[in-house]
Amino acid sequence: MSDMNTPVDAGAKATGGDVAQTKVSRTRNTSRSYFSTKVAYNIGRLHGLKLRIFLYRRIGMKIGSNCVVRRGVYLGSPNELEIGDGSFIGRANLYCTGGVKIGKNVNISDGAVIITAKHDVNSPAFEALYEPIVIDDWAWIATNAIVLAGVTVGEGAVVAAGAVVTRDVVPYSIVGGNPAKVIGERKRQGFTYVPGDYHPPLL
Ligand SMILES: CC(C)(COP(=O)(O)OP(=O)(O)OC[C@H]1O[C@@H](n2cnc3c(N)ncnc32)[C@H](O)[C@@H]1OP(=O)(O)O)[C@@H](O)C(=O)NCCC(=O)NCCS
Repeated sequence: MSDMNTPVDAGAKATGGDVAQTKVSRTRNTSRSYFSTKVAYNIGRLHGLKLRIFLYRRIGMKIGSNCVVRRGVYLGSPNELEIGDGSFIGRANLYCTGGVKIGKNVNISDGAVIITAKHDVNSPAFEALYEPIVIDDWAWIATNAIVLAGVTVGEGAVVAAGAVVTRDVVPYSIVGGNPAKVIGERKRQGFTYVPGDYHPPLL
C-alpha cells in the first residue's frame, strides 16, 4: 500500500490543549479574505514588531499576548488565523482560508508552509477545497516543513525540517519525511521557554 494512505500514527487522534476544533470544509474564498490578505502583505513588510502586531490586530487578526510574527511572513486570509499567547511565527507561508488555529507557545520556523487549501483533482472545474489546520500548544513546525489541509498537529509535537505532513500528528511525537512518519518522541515536561520571547532587534 502507498505511504500516502498511512496515517502518521495509525488510529491515534491528535487532541490535547484547548485548540481542537471541528473540521469543516469551506468551498469559497471571500472578498474579505482577499482584502485582508492584501493589507496583511503590506503590514508584513513594515519594520517594527510592535507596529506590525498593532496593525494586524486593527485588521481583525486574533493574536495573543507576547507573540512574534516575523517580518516577511505571508499570511493568506489572515482573518481566518488565530495565534495563541507566546507563539512565534517565522518567515513562513500561512494560507489560512480554511481556518488556522495556532495554540500557545507554538514555534513555526522560517520557510514552513501551512496550507488549508487544495483542489479536487477529479473535479472537472478543479474545485478548490479548504480544510482547517490546528497546531496545538508547544508544537514546533521546523524549517521548510509543509502542513497540509485538515491536519491537526498535537500538543508538543515536532514536525522535523522538510517534512510533508498529510495526516494528524500525535501529541509529543516527532515526525519527519515525505509523507511524514514518526521518527521519535519528545519528552513530556514543564517547558521553561516561550517562543514569543525571541525577538532580537530587526526581527
Ligand atoms: C527534529 C530535529 C530537531 C531532530 O533532530 P535530532 O533529534 O538531532 O535527530 P537526529 O539527527 O538524532 O536523527 C534521529 C533520526 O531521525 C532522522 N531525522 C532527523 N531529522 C530528520 C528530518 N528532518 N527528516 C527526516 N528524518 C530525520 C535521522 O535520519 C535519524 O534517523 P536514524 O536514527 O534512522 O539514523 C531535526 O530533524 C530538525 O528538524 N531540525 C530543525 C531545524 C530547524 O528548523 N531549525 C530552525 C531553528 S528556529
